Amino acid sequence: MSSQQKTFYIETFGCQMNFHDSEKVVGTLISEGYAQVQREEEADLILYNTCSIRDKAEQKVFNRLNDVKKLHKAGKRFAVLGCVAQQEGEKIFERAPYVSLVAGSASYQNLPEMLVQIEAGASRVTGLDDRETDQTFETEFTARTNPHRGYITIIEGCDKFCAYCVVPYTRGKERSRTSNSVLQEARRMADCGFTEIQLLGQNVSSYRDPAGKKSFAELLAAVGEVPGIRRVRFTTSHPCDFTKDIVDAIDAVPTLCDHVHLPVQSGSSRVLGSMFREYTREQYLERIAWIKATRNRELSITTDVIAGFPGETEEEFGESLSLLDEVGYDGVFSFKYSPRPNTPALQYADSIPDIEKSRRLLVLQEHQRELQRLSYRSHLGQTLEVMVEGKNPARGQLVGRTSQNKTLNFVVNGQPEPGIGDYVRVLVTQAFPNSLLGELAV
Ligand code: SAH
Ligand code: SF4
Ligand code: F3S
Repeated sequence: MSSQQKTFYIETFGCQMNFHDSEKVVGTLISEGYAQVQREEEADLILYNTCSIRDKAEQKVFNRLNDVKKLHKAGKRFAVLGCVAQQEGEKIFERAPYVSLVAGSASYQNLPEMLVQIEAGASRVTGLDDRETDQTFETEFTARTNPHRGYITIIEGCDKFCAYCVVPYTRGKERSRTSNSVLQEARRMADCGFTEIQLLGQNVSSYRDPAGKKSFAELLAAVGEVPGIRRVRFTTSHPCDFTKDIVDAIDAVPTLCDHVHLPVQSGSSRVLGSMFREYTREQYLERIAWIKATRNRELSITTDVIAGFPGETEEEFGESLSLLDEVGYDGVFSFKYSPRPNTPALQYADSIPDIEKSRRLLVLQEHQRELQRLSYRSHLGQTLEVMVEGKNPARGQLVGRTSQNKTLNFVVNGQPEPGIGDYVRVLVTQAFPNSLLGELAV
């Protein structure tokens, strides 16, 4: 590397969409002549790709900016990308005057021009959008970090406007890529040796092919049929447009993984109404029944739940607990309600004290842990295929992931050790609430 080479450091917060956006941003920067470095101190340009889903996530970014403020003197440039950038906009320059670029995800297509402006010394460059754009961020330069498993964005933005959520404001309106361009990318990835593809979107089930060729279920099946692809996952689906043909596709195409993530948010139809989720507990359970009725596969089901939404009574909270019992989830991501800027729920009277919200969250998590302690035991004695994801030398174990998206650690018992990215069969010998342990099958 010549000493003249421009360098950048990037740090990413938030969801898979953000991580994948960062892979595309890194690819774009490299194609613009920058080299990536691993420490802020070594970089000319420092980028934070930010998340504002909950208040804590947002605070993290401002703390980070505060920590590195002193580096500014050394002539470095700072960029704030992602959801906090879109949400706070130019206010970020007031709060952190040493920042020179503030850009939301809908403007990344214009990054090369914005970089030219910063390099020319511009101090307040913005790429902000107010739900106007139809652009999706596609680039041939994506710098994927994992050589075996890669993301493909199929839809960006969200039009659902759930009462608590910032995403429709930070990610713009829903816009899908053509099924052709998605399939082309999948084929290119397969040619490069990828075997697992994860289709991404804030709401993949509202995918609408702009060319009118394929429904989401058809696209899913087509990606699963790309030669060389062994596993396809997708995240996230909204129950409201989660249709039965998605389950039928999984049942029919062996490469589509045995897993559906279907966020419920609450087990109470009254709370769901006040969240603007547009389905009732009963309608949600109808979708769960489809998922459980597959003929050829046993699908794992995971969800997201919010505890302590404004107005949630103790009884309604109890309905979330009973829903966990009724569905028998394989995993639950649960969050304490966090009031967010611009969202309708901010106007709701919220009489639940913070300490009570925390209590409910803990009760929910312990409840689910007990359920999983029992349900993970159903895998004992099964032989499952895993993709090898990593090694844990301290324990003499390899880390595998099952089609159901469960972690299955295993020992090789003197057999040749498989490599990372390999697919092997593992006999399950022990079960824990969040992982399984086994040995490489002969
Ligand atoms: N698009 C996805 C998820 C987006 S955010 C979906 O619709 O399901 C991921 C999760 O964060 C949500 O499912 C929700 O459970 C949680 N979340 C979003 N906003 C939140 C808030 N204001 N407070 C607490 N949790 C929130
Ligand atoms: Fe947020 Fe609702 Fe959109 Fe999910 S569907 S991103 S929770 S507004
Ligand atoms: Fe966070 Fe934005 Fe993703 S708010 S969760 S980074 S869409």
